[in-house]
Amino acid sequence: MPDRDPDHVPEGIDLDRPNPARIYDWFLGGTANWAIDREFGAKAVEAFPMIRTMARVGREFLGRGVHYLARQGVTQFLDLGSGVPTVGNVHEVADSVNPESRCVYVDNEPVAVAHSQVLLEQEGDLDRHAVFQGDLREPERVWERALETGVLDPGQPIGLILVNVLYFVGPEDRPQEILAKYRDLLPSGSYLLSSHLTADGVPEEGAEGRDEVRRQYQRSSSELHLRSREEFTRFFDGFELVDPGVVWIPEWRPDERESPATRQFLANPPASSGLAALGRKP
Ligand SMILES: C[S@@+](CC[C@H](N)C(=O)[O-])C[C@H]1O[C@@H](n2cnc3c(N)ncnc32)[C@H](O)[C@@H]1O
Repeated sequence: MPDRDPDHVPEGIDLDRPNPARIYDWFLGGTANWAIDREFGAKAVEAFPMIRTMARVGREFLGRGVHYLARQGVTQFLDLGSGVPTVGNVHEVADSVNPESRCVYVDNEPVAVAHSQVLLEQEGDLDRHAVFQGDLREPERVWERALETGVLDPGQPIGLILVNVLYFVGPEDRPQEILAKYRDLLPSGSYLLSSHLTADGVPEEGAEGRDEVRRQYQRSSSELHLRSREEFTRFFDGFELVDPGVVWIPEWRPDERESPATRQFLANPPASSGLAALGRKP
């Protein structure tokens, strides 16, 4: 990762409230976070110590999903809510399978976008990789801008990635309709890769800590919206679920790629509190 001046605050950064992109970066051991985010993260870890490992498990799923898709011959990716670049970024995983692969990153947090831009300028290939600041709740706008980058070919299948992000979208934003819109925009043969936090079937143990973390997020710039297995599955309406279907995150093709944090959860997958799936648009 490119170095960051710890005293420099890029333009547009809200330091009045902790921010999910920066908190997540802190969970993963990154440096694109500020004191307000670290304080929030430390409190969350205190309430629910497993949260850092859960963040890694989520990130490892992203890597496995992209690796699998690249091996299926998918050469272009649109990663929404892509976050601050850290280990195993989508374009790197995709490039490791096919060095000609293409990737567009989108995030609504300026820090995530600024860091991605620097990384792509220094280590990416600007003909094949791009990033812009956008809100995934505006599918048409995001789609238009993604195509404007010139990186994606709308005539070829695209791997649409919504990993670890849909729980920031509340019911008032009608996530089901947002997903349907993306599905309609994607060319046939495209995929949707996603994961989601749930309380459905999660062991009681640790419930108090999890609830406390949710309350903490309500005070950050984004609330957490957990969804049932059924609600998550409905996001894949119009897609054919790829084996093994909707499963606990650690159970999603654990052998696809090295996933050390995931291994810890394989003995008790529901403790991951996260569901994962991949769907293909016929
Ligand atoms: C928990 S991080 C996940 C990052 C990455 N997808 C991963 O799995 O490692 C969630 C990211 O989604 C971004 N995000 C949240 N709501 C968003 C929205 N409406 N539009 C675009 N990005 C959003 C946050 O800024 C943050 O970077």
